[in-house]
Amino acid sequence: MSRSADPLAELFAAAKAAQANAYAPYSRFKVGAALRTPGGVVYSGGNVENAAYPEGVCAETSAISAMARAGERRIAEICVVGDGEALCTPCGGCRQRIREFADAATTVHVAGPEGVRATFRLSALLPESFGPGHLPG
Ligand code: THU
Repeated sequence: MSRSADPLAELFAAAKAAQANAYAPYSRFKVGAALRTPGGVVYSGGNVENAAYPEGVCAETSAISAMARAGERRIAEICVVGDGEALCTPCGGCRQRIREFADAATTVHVAGPEGVRATFRLSALLPESFGPGHLPG
C-alpha cells in the first residue's frame, strides 16, 4: 500500500473514526486514539467504559491493545481526539502505557474535532520515566 500524502491527517481521521465508535455512556466523553508504527501501519481504538466504573479503558489503551494483538511493538506517533475546549491529553496511566512502546522521538498529537491542536514529545508529558530498560536482564 502506498504511503499517505498527509500522514498526520490520516492519523487524525483514524482517531476520529475510532472516537465515533467509542463506548462512553457514563461520562458521555468519547475519545479516539490512533497510533502509527515506525513501519507506517495505523492502529486505533476508542474508550470503552463499564457500569463498574473503574473497569473502563481509555482510547489510547484500546489502540495499544490492537497494535500488540497484531504483533507490533513500537509507537512512532499517536493522535488522541476528544471534544470540548480543553486539550484532551492522555491520562497518566496511558502516558506510561505509551512509554512501554515509545522511544525518544515518539510524539503525541492532541486533537479536537477540528484537527490537531498541539504536539508533544512523550518525554515532555512523562519526564524521567521508568521503562523496560530499567529492569535488569
Ligand atoms: N479518556 C480517554 O479515553 N483518553 C484520554 O486521554 C482522557 C480520558 C476517557 C476515559 C473515560 O472513559 C472518559 O474519557 C472520561 O474521563
